[in-house]
Amino acid sequence: MSTAQFQQEVERRRTFGIISHPDAGKTTLTEKILLYGGAIQLAGSVKARKASRHATSDWMEIEKQRGISVTSSVMKFTYQNCEVNLLDTPGHEDFSEDTYRVLTAVDSALVVIDSAKGVEEQTRKLMDVCRLRNTPIITFVNKLDREGLPPLDVLQDVEKRLQVECAPMSWPIGMGKFFRGTYNLYRKELSLFAASRTKIVEDIVHITDLADSKLDEILGNQANQLRDDIELLEGASTPFDSDRYLMGIQTPVFFGSAINSFGVSEMLDALVEIAPAPRQRFTQTREVSPYEEAFSGVVFKIQANMDPAHRDRIAFLRICSGRFRRGMRVRHQRLGREVQLHNAIMFLAQDRENVEEAFPGDIIGIHNHGTIRIGDSFTEKEDLRFIGIPNFAPEHFRKVHINNALKAKQLEKGLQQLTEEGAVQLFRPLNRNDYLLGAVGILQFDVILARLKNEYGVKAHLEPSSFLTARWVVTQNAEALQRFEKKFVDSLARDSQGNLVYLPANAWRLERTNDDWPEIHFLQTMEIN
Ligand code: G4P
Repeated sequence: MSTAQFQQEVERRRTFGIISHPDAGKTTLTEKILLYGGAIQLAGSVKARKASRHATSDWMEIEKQRGISVTSSVMKFTYQNCEVNLLDTPGHEDFSEDTYRVLTAVDSALVVIDSAKGVEEQTRKLMDVCRLRNTPIITFVNKLDREGLPPLDVLQDVEKRLQVECAPMSWPIGMGKFFRGTYNLYRKELSLFAASRTKIVEDIVHITDLADSKLDEILGNQANQLRDDIELLEGASTPFDSDRYLMGIQTPVFFGSAINSFGVSEMLDALVEIAPAPRQRFTQTREVSPYEEAFSGVVFKIQANMDPAHRDRIAFLRICSGRFRRGMRVRHQRLGREVQLHNAIMFLAQDRENVEEAFPGDIIGIHNHGTIRIGDSFTEKEDLRFIGIPNFAPEHFRKVHINNALKAKQLEKGLQQLTEEGAVQLFRPLNRNDYLLGAVGILQFDVILARLKNEYGVKAHLEPSSFLTARWVVTQNAEALQRFEKKFVDSLARDSQGNLVYLPANAWRLERTNDDWPEIHFLQTMEIN
């Protein structure tokens, strides 16, 4: 492959994730995106796929029972000559640290907002993660076929609560029963709304001049409302600016109705046009450009095989540079060992297949039996270790107890292996011999209990723990650290890498400690080494 061809392959990659609060319509939108991308033929298959996947193993029973998705996956499809990798992010009440970490592996994100609810809590938290890397985001305001907030209020809410400037790309005409469609401000096109839950609906009218009487014929008395809205917007709203979007300062906003496939292709067209191709990534020593020809990649997620007949794990590796070829030899940096990648897999919407070649931005899956961990780097030539795939501060904690003390060894092994997958973290308090689990979403605790029982034969139970969150304690000042450890010994623990962690009981205490100990940094994320 020539250098020019390789560069072209990089340029046409788009790797993004969708974030939203539960029920805003992420699953529905994902499905419609896959439908437009030709990756699935029939609406309903993403939900159906989720349902059938549940049946494949015992510990996934929990997921089935609750009807929500514990695991996330990668979906690949081609759209307008772009190779799109859509990284799914578990979004329900019980989402996990994986959700956060997936966002560190994407180049851009799509935010779905329910037009009746505006910005909700989980969207805000996920947006904080995007902000860590200034990830560019596109916003899709969903459910316009229902009565919702006035569109200007939604924009204001996004600006205020997500701290990002809004640039409307389209504008809705009415809502709920009176929803007639959207007007694309840049293409000067009217997309007319016709409800369809199963097929792609396109009904577009070009409008060169809003004064055109054609508009009155089509929209009746809503035409003047649209004219007034657009006039107001032209004076008051911010125009789209690609640079500001790429810096994560501005979000282009689209309106639509995912369930009716409305506004989805408009948004997807913009995504492939304006969303960034794979970006450079950082290692401990230097920046790596995706256009470098030597292969390199970093693991951002580990998933246990859901099929009980194959108890291995799949490591999700994002390619950061170079071309992946099947069977190539690479160096597993943490272990300092050469490995041959002969049966890596690629994730397609409904299937997986062996991958022959892949490019920066693509995600490949590598089977392993626990040798690969989150944050591991694989490189073809130079020794490089990627950073930027951290642990995130848990928001819920539980103490682990076992019913049978003779099972202590299995418990330790089980906890160590299961927490290596990254959805739950294991802490050891400084002053007690307890195992303390920390997670971003509480469902993860149930998953751990079920898997301890099924895979390690350990019956354990959990006790609530009242810690609010965790902060990694970092300082160069040894004397201050000693004083701090002495004073807060009851609220300190070590994570599985041996890092010191402060576990405040409440927000007031955290703030106070922050103020009282200026020599110490209290970090919300910690690099995995
Ligand atoms: P999530 O993944 O973000 O949790 O949301 P999901 O797509 O599952 O959508 C949540 C609910 O909102 C679903 O209804 C879905 O049908 C509905 N929905 C999604 N997009 C639209 C839209 O554009 N307009 C309207 N009116 N509703 C929409 P449900 O009753 O919970 O599920 P189901 O019975 O449809 O499966």
